[in-house]
Amino acid sequence: MKNTIRIWCPASVANINVGFDALGFCLSDAGDEIIAERVDSPGIHLGELKGFPTPNKPEENVAFVAANSVYRAAKEPNIGIRLNIDKRIKPGSGVGSSAASAVGAAFAVNELLGKPFTKEELLPFCIDGEAIASKTRHADNIAPTLLGGFCLVVTQDDHLAVSLETNLDLHYVVAHQQIEIKTSTSRTVIPHEIPLETAIKQWSNLGGFTAALFKNDKDLLAYCAKDFVVETHRKSQIPHFDELKELAVANGALIFGISGSGPSVFALCESDQSAKAVKESFDQLLTKKEHAYHLYSGSVDKKGVHELL
Ligand code: HSE
Repeated sequence: MKNTIRIWCPASVANINVGFDALGFCLSDAGDEIIAERVDSPGIHLGELKGFPTPNKPEENVAFVAANSVYRAAKEPNIGIRLNIDKRIKPGSGVGSSAASAVGAAFAVNELLGKPFTKEELLPFCIDGEAIASKTRHADNIAPTLLGGFCLVVTQDDHLAVSLETNLDLHYVVAHQQIEIKTSTSRTVIPHEIPLETAIKQWSNLGGFTAALFKNDKDLLAYCAKDFVVETHRKSQIPHFDELKELAVANGALIFGISGSGPSVFALCESDQSAKAVKESFDQLLTKKEHAYHLYSGSVDKKGVHELL
C-alpha cells in the first residue's frame, strides 16, 4: 500500500444553462493539488494548507469532511492520513472550488486505504464535504470533477452520477472576474417555484442536450443549452454579463452562460480556433474594466480527479 499520493483535483462548470444542480463538465487547466500521506496517529488530519485560505477547523473544511466520511465508511480506525492542500481555485469563483477539494480529499483517502470504493461510490462522501460550503447537497460540480467529461446527476432521495459520453471535441473559455459570490447567497435569489410552461421548456431542453452529446450533434446542443430558470435572476450580479455574451456569440461560441453560481461565465466552442477568438475578445473587453480577472481555456477534460505521478 502507498504511503504518499499526490492528487489533481480539477475545477468544473456546473449547470451548463440547461441543468441547474444536475449538469456539469470538467476543466483541464484549473485545479487544486492535494498530497495525502500516511501518519502514525489514526484518523484524518489536516496538514499544510497553502494557496487561497481554507478553514483550518476540521469540521469547517470541505476536504476534511469528505475525507472523514470515506474513512468512517471504510471502517479503518488504525490508519492515520494527513492531508496537505494546495488551494489554487479561488473559493467563490464559480468553478467548483469546494467540490475540487472535497473530491480530491475523498479520492486520496480512498487510494491510501486500498480503494474500498469505486469513483462512483465516492459521490455521497464528496457531497458531505460540498454541503459544508454551499449549505445544500448538490453534486453538479462533484460528478464531473470525480468522473471527468460531461456528467448528469440524477437526484431522488440520493444522487447518482451518469457520465454523458460524446465524441464532440469541445473547447471552453471561462472568464473569472475576481469578485466573490458565495453559492449559498447566490441560491437565495432563485425562486423556489417555477410555472409549468417554464418547467416543460427546461426539461425538454435538458433531454435534448443529453441526446445531442450522445448523437454528437453540436447544432442540437447549442439549440438546447438555454436557461429559462436561473440566468435572469443571477446575471445582474455578474459585471458585463451581456457584453461578454454578445462577444461569445459574435465569435462563434455554441453556448454561453453563468458558470455555476458565478461570477465566472463560460463559453463552449466547437474548435480550438473559435475558443481562441472568444478568449481574445473577453481579454480585450475585461482589460478595460474595473475588476481583476483570469481567463481559463482548454478542452473539456475526460479524466477527472487522478493521481499525479
Ligand atoms: N448548481 C449550483 C448552483 C452550482 O448554481 O447554485 C454551484 O455550486
